[in-house]
This record gives sequence, structure tokens and C-alpha cells, in this order.
Amino acid sequence: MNYTICNLEDEDFPEMEDMFACVFPEVETGLPDAFEYRVRNLSKGIYLDSGELAGFILCDVYGKQFEQIKINYIVVHPAYQKQGFGSILLQHVVKLCLKMKKKICLIPVMKHHILKWYRKQGFRISKVCDAAGGGKLYEMSYRV
Ligand SMILES: CC(C)(COP(=O)(O)OP(=O)(O)OC[C@H]1O[C@@H](n2cnc3c(N)ncnc32)[C@H](O)[C@@H]1OP(=O)(O)O)[C@@H](O)C(=O)NCCC(=O)NCCS
Repeated sequence: MNYTICNLEDEDFPEMEDMFACVFPEVETGLPDAFEYRVRNLSKGIYLDSGELAGFILCDVYGKQFEQIKINYIVVHPAYQKQGFGSILLQHVVKLCLKMKKKICLIPVMKHHILKWYRKQGFRISKVCDAAGGGKLYEMSYRV
């Protein structure tokens, strides 16, 4: 399937919200904040020739020297999962971050297949902290 990767625009937000509700029905949405404070040139949508948004990635920046990029969300519409779009989107942003000499991290959803997928994409657990509500929080970082 043909696709184009572009920066996300305000008019994409309703489509993103619908997709987000589909894949994270149980989660109170952190999407509006993540969208509002995104790093624009590192937050991308993957668009099909029909104009439909197949998936998106939202990134934020951290660190005293803005040296760290955090991937807040990566979502592919259920109808288009397992066709390579997630990998294409993630590796596109990883490549941009490496070019800018930025570190890349994320807090994964703690599901076995998601952790396995991130490992396959080059991410490794880099930090374990206590979560506010109990349990542990895991951070993964991209290893060159
Ligand atoms: C995680 C997520 C972004 C991955 O996106 P995706 O587009 O499905 O990912 P890919 O297609 O690149 O890879 C997924 C699998 O499909 C396989 N695949 C890739 N292209 C394929 C193709 N053309 N045909 C069949 N399988 C394919 C990959 O090998 C991979 O297999 P694996 O699970 O054994 O590693 C997506 O599943 C999603 O949106 N999940 C819900 C939201 C979520 O949990 N996001 C992560 C939050 S931390």
C-alpha cells in the first residue's frame, strides 16, 4: 500500500482521537496534551493515498539541553496493523532523532507483544522506577 509520512496538523486531531479510543478504550486520554506539546518536526502521521490517516507518532522533548526525545504515543489504526506501518513510522522518527544526535526514550505499554515489538525495533529497558500508584514503570531507550 502506498503511503506518505508528513507532520501532523490540527485537522488530523479528530481522526487521531477516534483511533486512540479504538486502541486504548480503557485509558483516560493524555492525547490532547501530547498533541499540543508535540515536537512538530518529529510528530508524524502516515497517510494512505486515499488521504486516510493509518497511524501516528507523537514526540516530546526533555533535558536541560533538550537532548532527549520521548515518544509519547505511537498508534496504528487496527485495520492497518501488522502491515509494517508502525515500524516504518517508528524507524522514520528514530532516523531523524539520530541525525539530530538526540537520545530517544519511551514508556511502553506493559504487554508482552508490545515489549517484544520495541525490542525488535532496537529499544531496550534502560530504567525501572516505582510508579506513583504502586508497581513499576519501565523506560526503554533506543540503542544504536
Ligand atoms: C504497536 C503498534 C504501533 C505496532 O504497529 P504495526 O503497524 O502493527 O507494527 P508492524 O506491522 O510494523 O509490526 C507488527 C508485527 O507485524 C509484522 N508485520 C510487519 N509487516 C507485516 C506484513 N506486511 N504482513 C504481516 N505481518 C507483518 C511484524 O513482523 C511484527 O511482528 P512481531 O509482532 O512478531 O514483531 C500497533 O500494534 C498499535 O497501534 N498498537 C496499539 C497501540 C499501542 O499499544 N502502542 C504502543 C504504546 S507503547
